[in-house]
Amino acid sequence: MNQSLQYTLVTSQKAPFQQLPWIGDHEHLINQPENFINLLQTYNQALWVLRYDNNIFLTSQDGISKAISNGDVQAERLAYVPPMPIESFGYPSFMHTYGTQYPYYAGAMANGISSVEMVAALGKAGFMGSFGSAGLSPARIVAAIKAIQQELPDGPFAVNLIHSPNEPLLERKLAELYLQLGVWVIEASAYMDLTYALVHFRVAGLSQAADGSILIKNKIIAKISRREVARKFMLPAPEDLLKQLLADGKITEDQAELARRVPMADDITVEADSGGHTDNRPLVALIPTMLAVRDEVQARMNYPQSVRVGAGGGIGTPASALAAFMMGAAYVVTGSINQACVEAAASDHTRRLLAQADMAEVIMAPAADMFEMGVRVQVLKRGTMFAMRAARLYELYNRYNSVEEIPPADREKIEKTIFWRNLDEIWEETQAFFRERDQKNLERAYADPHHKLALIFRWYLGLTSRWSVVGEPGREMDYQIWCGPAMGAFNQWVKGTVLEPVENRKVVEVAHQLLIGAAYLARVRSLNTQGVFLSEDLQQYYPPRQQ
Ligand SMILES: Cc1cc2nc3c(=O)[nH]c(=O)nc-3n(C[C@H](O)[C@H](O)[C@H](O)COP(=O)(O)O)c2cc1C
Repeated sequence: MNQSLQYTLVTSQKAPFQQLPWIGDHEHLINQPENFINLLQTYNQALWVLRYDNNIFLTSQDGISKAISNGDVQAERLAYVPPMPIESFGYPSFMHTYGTQYPYYAGAMANGISSVEMVAALGKAGFMGSFGSAGLSPARIVAAIKAIQQELPDGPFAVNLIHSPNEPLLERKLAELYLQLGVWVIEASAYMDLTYALVHFRVAGLSQAADGSILIKNKIIAKISRREVARKFMLPAPEDLLKQLLADGKITEDQAELARRVPMADDITVEADSGGHTDNRPLVALIPTMLAVRDEVQARMNYPQSVRVGAGGGIGTPASALAAFMMGAAYVVTGSINQACVEAAASDHTRRLLAQADMAEVIMAPAADMFEMGVRVQVLKRGTMFAMRAARLYELYNRYNSVEEIPPADREKIEKTIFWRNLDEIWEETQAFFRERDQKNLERAYADPHHKLALIFRWYLGLTSRWSVVGEPGREMDYQIWCGPAMGAFNQWVKGTVLEPVENRKVVEVAHQLLIGAAYLARVRSLNTQGVFLSEDLQQYYPPRQQ
């Protein structure tokens, strides 16, 4: 350890308060390097840098001007950092709206990976978790919501509503279920446009207070990576959908009227280079762009509460969280790093692989839900062949128009290595699945052999993510593990600390450490701008070391 403190005068201008001398007991002057970390970490206290007798000291005593009494010394003030409680990052209105203590939520992870346990743990600790409803049956979603409501009767929690272009009825059914069950926060994702289901959820919760203000009971956090989509969520609900909902008796005339004066979403989570579905955009470019769209809409609409913009995608270290806040994010969102936590519904094998991943060990692979359109998801590359095998299937799908067109050698190879079965058997199983769930899709496949090929290949793409959750024995090399570069950045940050072993990773501790670290770094950077430089080992924040 080579901890030190240096002061380099960068400006002769000093803030007026710094011109006053610091007066206090010599014992409050700290220059033992081993105590610097403690002082910097105690983010609820102000911090002063002083010069006395040609040495530099830190102190948390403010030493306001007073008459020197016996034993007091008089020192020169060089720098000051205010208390920086972790609750003070982001926007207070975010915390007020959702009833959280911190400007942080854990994004939904499909197949219930962001589980009841995860959402409950986060909610009890003042964070918010979004339940990963995508890919689950309505019955399982209802059971999960009831379990969460038991644990968190007053919240905070959110439930995902994911756009399902192939299953619009399912989306509507889920929106109705959420309304019936009293879910009042949804995280809406994968939308390119507003839908009937979304507008129904939002507008059915509108009412007017006695003072004429509009009460918005049903909150929407929309996760978006494109400006044009963000704008739609920042504007009021579209007229045509309001008319349809009115005609169907889903909303009242009064509610339709109120809907014309409020935005569709309370919050926009800007999603950058994340695990799962992503456009791989850099967060530093995306945040200012979305803030500009928000400011433009707010100037036009003049809402009493403007739409907030939060940030997700790539956040796995305190530095990334702090950067997002400093760029104006109202809150931060994590995903990948939570999948490696003990509360995640992910198999031990998957969590262990995640805990070893490096930042570059992720890759884009074909997505199960929008396979035919060439949509891709970001997955873990290390320890699984899923990405390679799924890419091979997509290549064959693009080249051939039916199962019969695939050359026998290629067919045999994928049957042996990927499907472990004859494609005819896979088709039988696929038909049984769709007969239960989506007969129309099946009829399309009977009429169109290329669609049949897609459904057969989607058997693999759909099952591989479940194998990762349940830990399907023997299929480890096929696990589809959604993951972004944040995971590797996190792993590197926690090396040698209590959070390195996968069994120690708990969502709440991970969230706390990220925010504590962000506060620490904010204080260090503030000192830097005032000419105070710490040695390298003090410039970064790490969780406590492993004993
Ligand atoms: C395993 C996994 C599954 C995900 N599933 C969903 C999902 O079903 N719905 C959704 O809105 N976002 C989903 N996401 C995105 C996360 O909610 C979150 O926005 C994202 O992971 C944040 O970026 P990061 O991975 O870089 O932390 C998923 C992410 C991961 C890692």
